[in-house]
Order: sequence, then structure tokens, then C-alpha cells
Amino acid sequence: MNEFTGYKELGLVNSRDLFAKAVSGGYAIPAYNFNNLEQLQAIVMACVETASPVILQVSKGARSYANQTLLRHLAAGAVEYAAELGCEIPIVLHLDHGDSFELCKDCIETGFSSVMIDGSHLSYEDNVALTRKVVEYAHQHDVTVEGELGVLAGIEDDVHAATHTYTEPDQVEDFVGKTGVDSLAIAIGTSHGAFKFKPGEEHSIRLDILAEIEKRIPGFPIVLHGASSVPQELVQMINAHGGKLKDAIGIGEDQLREAARSAVCKINIDSDGRLAMTAAIRKVLDEKPEEFDPRKYLGPARDALKQLYMHKIVNVLGSNGKA
Ligand code: G3H
Ligand code: 13P
Ligand code: ZN
Repeated sequence: MNEFTGYKELGLVNSRDLFAKAVSGGYAIPAYNFNNLEQLQAIVMACVETASPVILQVSKGARSYANQTLLRHLAAGAVEYAAELGCEIPIVLHLDHGDSFELCKDCIETGFSSVMIDGSHLSYEDNVALTRKVVEYAHQHDVTVEGELGVLAGIEDDVHAATHTYTEPDQVEDFVGKTGVDSLAIAIGTSHGAFKFKPGEEHSIRLDILAEIEKRIPGFPIVLHGASSVPQELVQMINAHGGKLKDAIGIGEDQLREAARSAVCKINIDSDGRLAMTAAIRKVLDEKPEEFDPRKYLGPARDALKQLYMHKIVNVLGSNGKA
């Protein structure tokens, strides 16, 4: 059996205090997914430069891609790296879309400070029971837990839902009370990936449902998944250098800004980072076909990621200066 590595030994924090401050301060903490060194470097550089707290998110797929031991050391390294860069920002290591008690437990035992148990595809009763079980174990170790109610359309790891099932405001108080979760992910029309709306369709999310949910659980930390904005300049850059992304559309930054001012205290962004990296790499390889040193294309990709992450923090989430 593996030895237990608690997140506090790694210098990480759970999300409890960060969320309380974010809700009362009217801003959201960035939850950026990572699975390699350059992404992590860009996240830490961006958050240090803007003095923002950060949630480093690891999906099940990322965990098996990058190896859990390496990821844990990278996250611990991020704490030291931030201090080296001159700002000791609070860093959470979070499991994104945990799909079983066993996976959540394993992450808690190997240094994660926060886990998501995504029972959104189960029946309400089964979601409550599974989430409650994870909360009971996690809280013994002072690890915070995110649950989910409602189903996002789009692709999330192995799960595919064709349509949205918006979160039912009438259920949230019961769910939060019965499970003991620390935060709640809701479905209000965001979705995973780079194709969130069809051309011609209205590009808006249901902020009215968010407002209803807030009325039922005032001040309770809310999480938005699928919150990439799919910047069109990145899509155009990818397509100008040999890519084929047709009709990629994201969530407007104005809508996310409005959500961040409410009880939404964690905003998940993965696809925009993928687009920024891909655009930068395609450009270098297209313009310099003789180049074969990975640092020559991963370096510009890292720079582009850092700019993107800083832009989100300052212009969309409002978490700058909150470290
Ligand atoms: O919600 C999904 C995240 O973007 C993670 O994606 O499962 O492909 O790593 P992934
Ligand atoms: P995007 O695909 O919109 O970046 O959402 C990421 C996410 O929700 C990770 O859990
Ligand atoms: Zn998600």
C-alpha cells in the first residue's frame, strides 16, 4: 500500500478559505487544467505576476497521461517555484471530474487538497449517496469536495451528454444539506470543449437560473465548468497554419464576468489553454519547418498560455491581487 501523503506536507491549501473570500469579494478563482510542465509553468507565472490564488486541476485522463506521482511532485514544485518568483500564492491541487469514490480516495491519499465527485449522470439519490461518501472521507483529511447537479452538454472525458439538463434550483438546498459538499458545480448552459453553441444559435448562458440557485443557497460557493471563451483570434491562427476548427464558439467574457461577481467562485478553463498552445505551436512549425527543438515551439506556447491566463485573471475573473 502507498504511504499517505497529505497535501499540507506539500505546501498546498484546500479551497475553503479561498471560496469564502471569493464569494464575499465578488470574484472567482481560476481553475486551470494542466498535464505537462509548460502548462504548469505558465499557470504559476501568470498567477504570481497577478498575485492571484489558483486551483491546479487534474482530470482522470490527465492523471493517467502524466503519471500521478510526477503530477504530485509538479504541484509541490509549483509551491516552491511561486515563492522563488517572489509571491507565495495559495495553490489548490484539485481532482477534476472524479468519477468514483476510489479515485477520490486515491487522490486524497496522494496529496490532492480538493476533489470533485461528479455524480451528475446518476439518479439524484445515487448522486447524493456517492457524494456524501466522498465528503465523509475527504473531510477526515480536511480535503474540500465539489459536487455537481445538472448535466453539461459536450464531451467530458469518457462521458458524453448530447443536451444540457439545467440544474434544478429546487434541488440545490437539499443536495448541499444532505451531502455536506463545500462547493457545487451547476449546469446553466456552459459546456465542455470548443464547440459550445451552433452558428446562429443564441450564445448565452442562463444567468437567471444562477440567480435562482443563489436565492436558495445564499453565499454558497458555486462552480462553473465549461467556461472557455474560445477566442476567435486563436481559432483563426490555428486555421491559418493548417488547422481545421470549424464553428468553434465559446462563452462570452461579459457573461463570465457577471457570473464571477456573484457566488460563482471557481471558473474552469481548459479548452482555451489548448487552443492557445496549439495556435502557437502550429505557427512556429508552419513558419520554421526546419525547427525541431521542442523548446522552440513549447516556449512560445508557454508564453501564449501565460498571456491568456493573465488576461482571464485580470479581465474576467477579478482574482488579481487576492493571493
Ligand atoms: O472537463 C474536462 C476537462 O477539460 C479535462 O479534459 O478529460 O480531456 O483531460 P480531459
Ligand atoms: P472548457 O472545456 O470550457 O475549458 O471547460 C473545462 C472544464 O470544465 C474542466 O472541468
Ligand atoms: Zn468540467
